[in-house]
Amino acid sequence: MANNNYKMFITGVSGLLGNNLAGYFKDKYEILGLYSSHPVAIKGIITEKCDISDDSLLRKIIKQFCPYVIIHCASLTNIDQCETDRSLTRRVNVLSNKNIIDAISGMDAKLIYISTDAVYDGIKGNFSENNTVNPLNYYGLSKYEGELEVLKKENSLVLRTNIFGWNIQDKKSLGEWILEELMAGRRINCFADAYFSSIYTIELSRVIDIAIQNNLSGIYNCGATNSCSKYEFACKIASCFEFDKTLIAPISIDDFDFKAKRGKKLTLNVNKLQKELDYKLPTIEQSIESFYKDYKCGLPDMIKKGQSTSREEFNFIPYGRHWIDENDIQAVASVLRSDRITQGPKVEEFEKALSEYTGARYAVVVSSGTAALHIACLAANVKEGDEVITSPITFVASANCAIYCGAKAIFADIDPKTSNVSPLELEKKINLNTRAVIPVHFAGQSCDMTTIYEIVKKKEKEFNKRIFIIEDACHALGSFYKSNKVGSCKFSDMTVMSFHPVKHITTGEGGVVLTDDDTLYKRLKLFRTHGITKDQDEFIYGKNVFHPSSLRKESFASNWYYEQIDLGYNYRITDVQCVLGISQLKKIEDYRKQRREIVELYNKAFGNNEYIRIPFESEECDSNFHLYVLLFDFERIGIEREQLMNALEERGIQTQVHYIPIYTQPFYRKMFGTNWGDCPNAEKYYKKCLSIPLFSAMSKSDAERVIFEIHDTIEKFCRDKKI
Ligand SMILES: Cc1ncc(COP(=O)(O)O)c(C=O)c1O
Repeated sequence: MANNNYKMFITGVSGLLGNNLAGYFKDKYEILGLYSSHPVAIKGIITEKCDISDDSLLRKIIKQFCPYVIIHCASLTNIDQCETDRSLTRRVNVLSNKNIIDAISGMDAKLIYISTDAVYDGIKGNFSENNTVNPLNYYGLSKYEGELEVLKKENSLVLRTNIFGWNIQDKKSLGEWILEELMAGRRINCFADAYFSSIYTIELSRVIDIAIQNNLSGIYNCGATNSCSKYEFACKIASCFEFDKTLIAPISIDDFDFKAKRGKKLTLNVNKLQKELDYKLPTIEQSIESFYKDYKCGLPDMIKKGQSTSREEFNFIPYGRHWIDENDIQAVASVLRSDRITQGPKVEEFEKALSEYTGARYAVVVSSGTAALHIACLAANVKEGDEVITSPITFVASANCAIYCGAKAIFADIDPKTSNVSPLELEKKINLNTRAVIPVHFAGQSCDMTTIYEIVKKKEKEFNKRIFIIEDACHALGSFYKSNKVGSCKFSDMTVMSFHPVKHITTGEGGVVLTDDDTLYKRLKLFRTHGITKDQDEFIYGKNVFHPSSLRKESFASNWYYEQIDLGYNYRITDVQCVLGISQLKKIEDYRKQRREIVELYNKAFGNNEYIRIPFESEECDSNFHLYVLLFDFERIGIEREQLMNALEERGIQTQVHYIPIYTQPFYRKMFGTNWGDCPNAEKYYKKCLSIPLFSAMSKSDAERVIFEIHDTIEKFCRDKKI
């Protein structure tokens, strides 16, 4: 049972904001939500029916629950109804505030009141909190009087806002209505002379979260940092969701004979709140983008099912995650409904799509990037006694693939500038035993492949043997090197990729080996499937195995017959996964673009900090930014990486370390006698590196939050140290 500091009381839990807040805060607080007429069930939250104008019932519930935070969202919001039914409006919008204040008197509870932009008259626009309040209608007046009641309680917070978002009820917020109409191809009319600074409910929830942490009190405007007309708002939604803008027509508020007057420029100046919280509120465009991304992640459905916006899920920003949309789901469902769910037509279709995208002649898709690395080594005939050289700063799979084949993994130090393997170090490690080199395009940025290629060709001559180049491009689908797509195999024998969910595209688990070489292609296919072939040119016996005398091998053709001619594995990937890969690959350019936009924000935010180094970008490479790794000078900042990671985790930001130098892993130290000190540059890098969140489904306001939390955490640490 939570203590009182973790109890939150929300009125209007069946409404748009109340419901979204409940979902957002449910992992942080024990929540009791009140509804008046629309019962809602939200997983993990207690809801109770209560008419908030019923003084005694409200008092009883509050006293029993004894909350630490009260967010008062309930109110009558239908402006025309408020105008005509003034006594009900007064009871709900004004007197209930008085009831709440009475109920919590003597309690150490924080009251947050959700007010409205309609307290202003909407004539001059860009209203600050110190501008005169002059509501044009009874709704605005009742909310203003409600504010006055709330402010009688010391330490209360009033937020004047205007919201849009995803409703739990069938009632639609402006954003939802616009979408529904556009989706159905219906024409809509929107006011071109009614301006606002609307904010997305989840963004507002975050602001409230930070306001509680900062114990903010007083009156604040809380909306977008900019404004637009409702007509422009509809157009912005249409372009974000890619609907036909021409369905939207501009109209004037003056053409309508509303019962209640409406302000035209209800735009908010939010500087006071931004300054007080040291937090950047989103623009309308950023709010719409978050609204869109949550839609793509299935939030509206979750809200409707009462599974809701868990703070865990929506306040928590992982360092990476997949993005599955409805098209992907439909594609997978179509294969599940078909006759073939494992080795059907989708496997080859995905291979074709990958080779077309990368420019490599062949693609062999398999069950993981690790499996892809393994069969690439097998195809290159890596075996006992051989050495395979790779980078120490990569996932262990880049080296393990050599060990699977009985060979030894050798680590060449990284170039401190690029964090990729240094070609010069690689050259030093190549010897007569070297069978393959595996340059890893770390974080998405390609290695210096022409130099590596030249070095390997020179060494092949020197040692008179073939040395294979296998690019580990598990991070680099969608990256370019010297205008070629990574994966084109222009400077290598094979390129390996992974479709794990944090990568650019996902198949759940999955991977591919790309190659231009016929022989390697055949061998890759063999090792993917137990070493079995159905290609009669590869048969050792043909039908002679059964009828040595009757049939000649050349004339043999049969669907059922196969031969196992080597020792392979079951590394097959299914049709279900491949159809997901095909659907995802269609969106790779969007994914690249979305990541790049976040990268620009990060570069700007961290680029001028003397204690932090942003990722190096070579002119020859265009990185897909699989990861965004910052190098922190933790010693000079005076904090441990662990402290920063833990503090950020507590604030809902996940970071990760990519990577611990492989040769320092216990397995490698025990088996191969490697140790700390082997690759000094890798170790210097390892001490400083920290990957911060970056994924396509991330919104710009998520990125702003990451930036804010990192700066704020570091500042707080430094301040505390000085004290
Ligand atoms: C550089 C690198 N190589 C190989 C792999 C292995 O890929 P998978 O997880 O698909 O087996 C990964 C996975 O994260 C990786 O990052």
